[in-house]
Amino acid sequence: MSGSRSASILLASNRGPVSFWLHDDGSLVSRRGGGGLVSGLSGVAEKGVVWVCAALSEADRMSAKRAPDGRLGRAGFDTAGADVHMLDIDLGTYHRAYNAIANSTLWFLHHLLYDIAKSPSFDRGFRREWASYQSYNLAFAQALADDAAEGARVLIQDYHLALAPAMLRQLRPDLRIGHFSHTPWAPVEYFMLLPDDVAAELLSGILGADHAGFLTRRWADAFAACCAELFGASVESDRVSTESHSTRLGVHPLGADPVFLTERAAAPDVLTRRAGLRELVGNRALILRVDRTELSKNIVRGLQAYRELLRVHPEWHGRVVHLVFAYPSRHDIPEYREYTAAVQRIATEIEDEFGTADWQPIVLEVEDDFARSLAAYRLADVIVVNPVRDGMNLVAKEVPVVSERGCALVLSREAGAHDELGEWAIVVNPFDIIDTADGIYRALTMDPAERSRRSQALAQAATALPPQRWFAAQLDALAAVDTPA
Ligand code: G6P
Repeated sequence: MSGSRSASILLASNRGPVSFWLHDDGSLVSRRGGGGLVSGLSGVAEKGVVWVCAALSEADRMSAKRAPDGRLGRAGFDTAGADVHMLDIDLGTYHRAYNAIANSTLWFLHHLLYDIAKSPSFDRGFRREWASYQSYNLAFAQALADDAAEGARVLIQDYHLALAPAMLRQLRPDLRIGHFSHTPWAPVEYFMLLPDDVAAELLSGILGADHAGFLTRRWADAFAACCAELFGASVESDRVSTESHSTRLGVHPLGADPVFLTERAAAPDVLTRRAGLRELVGNRALILRVDRTELSKNIVRGLQAYRELLRVHPEWHGRVVHLVFAYPSRHDIPEYREYTAAVQRIATEIEDEFGTADWQPIVLEVEDDFARSLAAYRLADVIVVNPVRDGMNLVAKEVPVVSERGCALVLSREAGAHDELGEWAIVVNPFDIIDTADGIYRALTMDPAERSRRSQALAQAATALPPQRWFAAQLDALAAVDTPA
């Protein structure tokens, strides 16, 4: 592949800003992706950003083949202004890198999800998967090396691409390279579950960057501790140094985008759904949760806590509805399919135990509908965010921004958002059902004036670093790196 070596700002992430569907007539339909990165990019798109990502579906692969050299955006697709370079990675390699290593190993590791009596066990099969993860990272590093202009700034995102920074530095020492982790980072003892060489390669991969960004101080410190204790790096005031290179650590707590959320939450489709939800809930109190059906989100314990609340406080029977939006996620992984079934099971149990002819205590929706989520954000009295561990959690930040009458936030102390929002939230231990049930009860019975006061403070803290500024902060951090020799 011949790269143009002309981009001065490059982004790399597994999932890109656009995805494709194949229409019945054979034409390709594109849809712009959501999320903080895409909106963060809109502020800098005019500077000529190239975004390197993986083709995730057959239609993505076809689009990459149709666009010259795998580049989209110039071909008229809506790509948030970026010139998107989609990599058509061999399907088997992709699945081993994405499902087996990124989602079933690194995600589990950083979120402490292993049931360690049984897993992980690193055998020959794992070694094959690891080799695929290496090839996948190398494909990204090569594409970035081909596309980047002399001295360009490159922002590599997340655990899918932990090796790419060092690989890219090897290929192009002139570049300024940043890596950003959107997840927590595992504590040293847990990170040590990995085979020693794999742990070392992951650390040295990220240490190939000039700047390594994290969502909270806690995750940055955990990374630094792994570098010091497992890799012999020296750590001094947010600089991690090895014999060959030095990496600056940065904490950039991604926030909600108030302009986007406020506008979107007033759109006609949201208003229609708002009316539907109002009718469903009536004048009962609304407890809401909105999550991907993801092991780290702790939905089952959250529902156990709601059941506990109904058992201990019968005075709330008939006066509250728990709306649970649990969207499908990562169904290629068996643990996720089992977890989805467990969520459905407990929702049914709650319905069976408490439901009456004129009261449905819990409503579980599994279909992803952002407009409906926003409508529920507007109406919720209480929002439950109780992950066992979470890099940040943007739902906790988004709800207070669009809430109509103020919303009480029940927040896990293990969510990254706790650092900024904890002061005005009701903070719970996500493993403690009784504590969580008590937190939901306190949220339900909070004085309305107090709730509204706290909700405003939450909204202010939640929007302190909106996506555009978060993105700019990473670019600035790289601009401050000494020009490579
Ligand atoms: C969540 C995490 C991100 C991660 C993303 C991947 O949003 O917070 O760190 O990159 O999931 O999701 P995907 O659906 O692409 O596997």
